[in-house]
Parts: sequence; C-alpha cells; structure tokens
Amino acid sequence: MATTEKALPPPPSTTLRGRVAASYQKAQNVFNKPGDGKPNNMRRIIVYAVVGVLIVVVIIVGAVVGTQKRGSSSGGGGSNGGSNGGNSGQGFPLDSRLHNSFWGLAYTPYGAIDCTATQANVTKDMQLLSQLTTRLRLYASDCNVTALVLQAIQDLNVNMSIYAGIYIHPDVESYNSQVAQLDFALKSYGVDRVDGVTVGNEYLLNAPSRGDTIANATTWLISRINDFKTHLRQATASSPDQHHNYSSIPVGTSDAAGTFIGDSSLVSAVDYFQVNIHPWFSQNTYEQAAWFSWSYMNNIVQPLVNATWPMPVNSTAQNPRLFQGEFGWPTDTDDAALGINPAGSRAGLTELQRVLDDWVCASNRNGTKYFFFEAFDESWKKMYGGVEQHWGLFYENKTLKAINIPDCPHD
Ligand SMILES: *[C@@H]1O[C@H](CO)[C@@H](O)[C@H](O)[C@H]1NC(C)=O
Ligand SMILES: *[C@@H]1O[C@H](CO)[C@@H](O)[C@H](O)[C@H]1NC(C)=O
Ligand SMILES: *[C@@H]1O[C@H](CO)[C@@H](O)[C@H](O)[C@H]1NC(C)=O
Ligand SMILES: *[C@@H]1O[C@H](CO)[C@@H](O)[C@H](O)[C@H]1NC(C)=O
Ligand SMILES: *[C@@H]1O[C@H](CO)[C@@H](O)[C@H](O)[C@H]1NC(C)=O
Ligand SMILES: *[C@@H]1O[C@H](CO)[C@@H](O)[C@H](O)[C@H]1NC(C)=O
Ligand SMILES: *[C@@H]1O[C@H](CO)[C@@H](O)[C@H](O)[C@H]1NC(C)=O
Ligand SMILES: *[C@@H]1O[C@H](CO)[C@@H](O)[C@H](O)[C@H]1NC(C)=O
Ligand SMILES: *[C@@H]1O[C@H](CO)[C@@H](O)[C@H](O)[C@H]1NC(C)=O
Repeated sequence: MATTEKALPPPPSTTLRGRVAASYQKAQNVFNKPGDGKPNNMRRIIVYAVVGVLIVVVIIVGAVVGTQKRGSSSGGGGSNGGSNGGNSGQGFPLDSRLHNSFWGLAYTPYGAIDCTATQANVTKDMQLLSQLTTRLRLYASDCNVTALVLQAIQDLNVNMSIYAGIYIHPDVESYNSQVAQLDFALKSYGVDRVDGVTVGNEYLLNAPSRGDTIANATTWLISRINDFKTHLRQATASSPDQHHNYSSIPVGTSDAAGTFIGDSSLVSAVDYFQVNIHPWFSQNTYEQAAWFSWSYMNNIVQPLVNATWPMPVNSTAQNPRLFQGEFGWPTDTDDAALGINPAGSRAGLTELQRVLDDWVCASNRNGTKYFFFEAFDESWKKMYGGVEQHWGLFYENKTLKAINIPDCPHD
C-alpha cells in the first residue's frame, strides 16, 4: 500500500478507462444473455424462493417474537433529525426534507463505471448524503471513487465514514488495479474514515451465469480476501502511524445470503459479511418486506453463521459481524412484466414509502445494522433490465423522489 510509488494508480488516461470499459463489457456479456437482462433477476428470485420456504418454518416463532418486541418499543421514534450524526451543515445548503435517520446507505457515484465520476459531482452527493446517514457502502475502487469520496468528506468536514469496496471479477488485473487505487486513497486520507473494505459483491451468486461453479468462485474469492489482508499487513509495516495503520481495517465480503452461509472456509476468512437480503426478489409483499428481511437475517443467516463458525480455540475470537448489506425497494421498471414481484407487489413510490416507514426507525431501535439500498438511481444498470436502475432515494439527477424520509436517531 504505502510502500512505493509503484502502488499509485495509473494516470487517468486511456489505461484506466480501457480497463474499466473491458470489465464493463465483461459485465454486459455476463448479464445480457442474448437480448434480455433477466438472468440476474431470475437468479435472485430462485435463490430467495428457495430460502422463502425456509422462512415459512420460522414465521410463527418470528411473528411472536416480533409482536412482543414491537409492543415494547412502540412510541420510541419521531425525534428530530438534528440530534444524531452531527451533520448539522458545514457551509452548504441543508434540505429540510432530509433527516439523518439511516444507519447506512449504499452508494455508487455517478460515473463509477465509465470513469466519468468527478470530484464536484461526488462532493455534491456528499452534501445530500451527509444529511441522511453517517455511513456509506461503496462497491468498487475503480475510477478513483474511494479517493473522490474521502476527499469530499474531508472538504465538507461532515461526519461520514465508508465501507470501501473491491469488486471481484474472475481476472486478477481488475483486482490489482482496484487495490492500487485503494492504496492511493488510504495513503492520502488515512484510515480514520474507513470502517472496512468489502472484497466482492454477489460474486458467488453470479457464478452460475458466468459458467463458473460456486466452489471455484469461493476459492477465488477467499484467495482475494486473504491476499488483501496480507497486503494491508505488509503496507502497515512501512507506515506505522495510527492514521495509516492499514491492518486495523476490517476486511469482509458481501453476497446474497443463500450462497455462502454454509461455507465455513469463507466464514472464517472474513471479519464481516454484508448480506444482501431483498424482499423484492422473494415471495413477499411490500407490506411484509421489512419483517421478512429482519427475520431472515435473525432466524436463518445468524444461526447458520454461528453454526458454521469453527469453534474458537480462543475465547477471544469473534465470529464475523453481520450487516444487512442491501435492503430496499424499487420505484419503477423498464419492463412492465418485471415491475411486479413474485408476491404480486409493484415497484413504486407508495411501496417504497411503506418499506421505509416499516424499516428505518424500527431497525434503528432494535440495533439492526443495515445499508439501505440505495442513494441514487443508476442508469447504467438499464443493461440489466427490469427494476435494476430504479432503487434510489434520489433520481440520478439528485432530485429526491416523492417520499417522506423517516425522522429518528440511529447509532
Ligand atoms: C458521527 O457518527 C457516529 C455514528 O456513525 C456517531 O457515533 C458519532 O457520535 C458522530 N460524531 C459526531 C461528532 O457527531
Ligand atoms: C483521485 O481523486 C483525488 C481526489 O479528488 C485526486 O487528488 C487525485 O488526483 C485523483 N487521482 C486520479 C488518478 O484521478
Ligand atoms: C475458476 O476461477 C478462476 C479464478 O477466477 C478462473 O480463472 C476460472 O475461469 C474459473 N473456472 C471456471 C470454470 O469458471
Ligand atoms: C494497528 O492495528 C492493529 C489491529 O487493530 C493493532 O493491533 C496495532 O496495535 C495497531 N498499530 C499501531 C501502530 O497503531
Ligand atoms: C426489528 O426491526 C424490524 C424492522 O426493521 C422488525 O421487522 C422486527 O420485528 C424488529 N425486531 C424486534 C425484535 O423488534
Ligand atoms: C451468534 O453468536 C453471537 C456471538 O458470537 C451471539 O451474540 C448471538 O446471540 C448468536 N446468535 C444466534 C442466533 O445464535
Ligand atoms: C489467543 O489469543 C491470545 C490473545 O489475542 C493470543 O496471544 C494467543 O496466541 C491465542 N491463542 C490461540 C491458540 O490462538
Ligand atoms: C430528475 O429526474 C426525474 C426522473 O427522471 C424527473 O422526473 C425530474 O423532472 C428531474 N428533475 C430535474 C430538476 O431535472
Ligand atoms: C454529474 O452527475 C449528473 C447526474 O447526477 C450527470 O448528469 C452529470 O453529467 C454529471 N456531471 C459531470 C460534470 O460529470
């Protein structure tokens, strides 16, 4: 990392854009089976349909527990947004419709795929997002986005930290390039605003559509996680001050729950999991969305991780922390047939509002750690079809959708 100049990213030239364009093309090849964008949707539906059956088993227990807890905690919300997070305006205009109520938000800057991301645009995003949360989850370190975000946080002096990301592809070049760009960001801005680095997102979920096996994908993913941990340790050796203590950064991964929770080699390789749980892709209505996600995590994922975790030789060992890595609801669709989920619920603003109202303050009260998916619509995802580009609280042009942001404190 901070070892030598050769760890710096390549100049913002055709090299970077060419490489990113290549992986963008690769993504298109992977997801766009001739003529449509459905494989991703279908795969998720299948994964969640299978676990949906499991969920039924725990529904009764979950409902009882949920009712009891809800009863004891009702009436706790509704405080003003100024008291949490400490983002009270640092010389930029505040929007009274925004409240710092989200434990975390998933964020992909505009231009993070084709490398047209700019500092001005990311800084504008950070003015908005710092009024909603104190934590962001990023997905990749292409296109210098980690540095752009950390620079914006520094310039605005807002209370914001990030889980940076390394998006894993089957090739080593895209990994190396992102590690180099992360090195630059961590060296330039230090580790104080970095809560973790998430290596991989849905790499296992997408294995079959790449013609890969889960086992082979798991081997590669673990090798990247271990490589990155070693890299951080080595970089720390040459840069010992506490703001550049890279080995103190937790290293995790993220995937849809069904694919990895039974794999003890993966569980023991990570410090944390960001588990993407999407009621949209399951047999759940929007009215059941919050409860489904919460009970899925608590009644299925957590016990399985606990059971998988090798008995610590050492009582101080911790099993990996779990985060709800993605949870949200889409508001529109590119294709009418894909605008209704398997339970018959629509992609829409009314539905998103209900999901927000059910999820945000209740989760904050009961200690659920989540990244709401997501900050902005992402038009580049139209290549996936269906609802994929429509999950933002804001449209891509930074206009807030016609929703009321819940108003309650978070940790
Ligand atoms: C910043 O936000 C964190 C939660 O992410 C909170 O614990 C901390 O107290 C906040 N800091 C300030 C100065 O408000
Ligand atoms: C990355 O962004 C930072 C912050 O804006 C900037 O200082 C740096 O020059 C950028 N690097 C490249 C390669 O664009
Ligand atoms: C197995 O993973 C390696 C490393 O990413 C990759 O190069 C190879 O193509 C994968 N095998 C299959 C069958 O996809
Ligand atoms: C760096 O972080 C590690 C792990 O958190 C810790 O054990 C070590 O003492 C830290 N070193 C310095 C110089 O702060
Ligand atoms: C925690 O919050 C979720 C909503 O996000 C809710 O569905 C669940 O019932 C709550 N659990 C408890 C024990 O309060
Ligand atoms: C899982 O293990 C953690 C400790 O590592 C514990 O706090 C938690 O209660 C366990 N949860 C379940 C569902 O077993
Ligand atoms: C248990 O943890 C202690 C303190 O972190 C460490 O010194 C020791 O080597 C560990 N023991 C084993 C068997 O891992
Ligand atoms: C932003 O985009 C939305 C959705 O495309 C559109 O309805 C709205 O008019 C746009 N707002 C501005 C200010 O351009
Ligand atoms: C900034 O982002 C918006 C989308 O929010 C995009 O339309 C615009 O082209 C971007 N500006 C620059 C200079 O990249």
